[in-house]
Amino acid sequence: MYSTSGFAALAALFMATSAHPQPKASFSWADTKHLITFGDSYTYVQGTHGHQNYSFIGDAFNLSFDAVDLLSNRIVQNQTATAEGGPNWVEFITGCGLKPGLTNPRDCEKQLWDFAFAGSDISTEYTPLHHNFTVSLVNQTKQFQQYANPVLSKFVNPAKTLVGFWIGINDIGDSDKLDVDFLTFYNELMSTLFQSVETVYDLGYNDFLLMQLPPLDRTPPNLIRAGGPLPNKTMVDWYDQALSNHSQTFRLSHPGSKVMVFDTNTFLNGVLDDPAEYGIKNITDYCASYDQPYINTDPAMYGCQPLSEYFWFNTGHMTSHTHEVLAGEVEKFLHEHSAG
Ligand SMILES: *[C@@H]1O[C@H](CO)[C@@H](O)[C@H](O)[C@H]1NC(C)=O
Ligand SMILES: *[C@@H]1O[C@H](CO)[C@@H](O)[C@H](O)[C@H]1NC(C)=O
Ligand SMILES: *[C@@H]1O[C@H](CO)[C@@H](O)[C@H](O)[C@H]1NC(C)=O
Ligand SMILES: *[C@@H]1O[C@H](CO)[C@@H](O)[C@H](O)[C@H]1NC(C)=O
Ligand SMILES: *[C@@H]1O[C@H](CO)[C@@H](O)[C@H](O)[C@H]1NC(C)=O
Ligand SMILES: *[C@@H]1O[C@H](CO)[C@@H](O)[C@H](O)[C@H]1NC(C)=O
Ligand SMILES: *[C@@H]1O[C@H](CO)[C@@H](O)[C@H](O)[C@H]1NC(C)=O
Ligand SMILES: *[C@@H]1O[C@H](CO)[C@@H](O)[C@H](O)[C@H]1NC(C)=O
Repeated sequence: MYSTSGFAALAALFMATSAHPQPKASFSWADTKHLITFGDSYTYVQGTHGHQNYSFIGDAFNLSFDAVDLLSNRIVQNQTATAEGGPNWVEFITGCGLKPGLTNPRDCEKQLWDFAFAGSDISTEYTPLHHNFTVSLVNQTKQFQQYANPVLSKFVNPAKTLVGFWIGINDIGDSDKLDVDFLTFYNELMSTLFQSVETVYDLGYNDFLLMQLPPLDRTPPNLIRAGGPLPNKTMVDWYDQALSNHSQTFRLSHPGSKVMVFDTNTFLNGVLDDPAEYGIKNITDYCASYDQPYINTDPAMYGCQPLSEYFWFNTGHMTSHTHEVLAGEVEKFLHEHSAG
């Protein structure tokens, strides 16, 4: 039974979100036709109209695009088209953009529309941009609302769309030296992250996938950790807890929404603990020549094992092979969360 005041609060909540046009539809990964994503270098794919090494389309100096720009844009697949030397998790779970060369997202069985930008943080309210052309998460969802959705809504059915967010990798690294209470700080980050989720929800999208952090406390000695072993496992876990808490709150306060949180951290720690099961032989280091032109055909020439035997691609990113392993588990998770 609702108390009177509780009911009023609930009614107010429904009214506040009444702009949301879609009735609840049950999520099914098998029936999903579109994946729309936001995030950072772990998620971005190169587009022919993108900023090379950073985006599918545009940058902070040129956020706008029209229907012709968006629909003539192509996903690039080659050694430099992602931050892992090959396909990444969104390309593996959709199968869109996997083949070398150019792919029109509209030709894919599951279309990938990717607005992630390499080097992104959630908002300049908390951490500075990596470059003056970087598009923060908040600006990615604004760009989506203003320019992408008016085009996509002509053929993208929100009821058959999953919206993915993977963000925080840069935030946790960029803020690790701040003199703040991290638990409080991560909760503040989350309130802004979920405003971005709400921006997309208000356009009629119901189904969300939120990815927790990779095991950033186990990256090879690197720039992120220069000056100390940060972020540490405790901080990664705090961020992930804050993400789970806010996901739960969002789900309860947004009728019809389905918010699925994938426990990236537990799964990938499991891979690091039992690498042989996934064909991985090197979890402590990476091949310093990862970006050399013949690294895929002749790794020995650079004194390296094949890149697919490494968990880490470089100091901050996982190999394409690790992304493929992760994608397999994400797909399993999405099937488990499908209705029926
Ligand atoms: C901005 O981006 C669009 C689409 O990507 C492109 O057509 C246009 O030429 C760009 N404008 C500038 C000034 O670079
Ligand atoms: C993109 O990265 C590659 C190396 O991975 C580099 O050769 C190229 O110059 C970069 N492009 C831009 C526009 O920075
Ligand atoms: C990848 O493709 C893009 C776009 O066609 C091109 O600019 C870039 O040079 C290519 N990189 C490699 C390593 O072939
Ligand atoms: C959005 O992008 C502009 C231009 O780069 C930047 O000045 C602004 O701080 C960004 N906003 C947020 C909330 O990140
Ligand atoms: C962006 O930054 C680059 C290098 O840091 C600088 O050369 C350029 O003038 C900046 N652009 C603007 C519009 O501020
Ligand atoms: C990690 O860092 C946080 C914040 O400085 C600290 O409170 C915590 O005790 C550290 N945890 C470990 C395991 O070092
Ligand atoms: C998440 O919620 C639990 C239970 O309410 C609470 O104990 C925990 O401190 C919260 N974690 C964060 C990071 O806010
Ligand atoms: C891991 O890779 C690094 C760099 O290629 C190499 O020096 C090291 O010997 C490798 N370790 C194992 C256990 O294969």
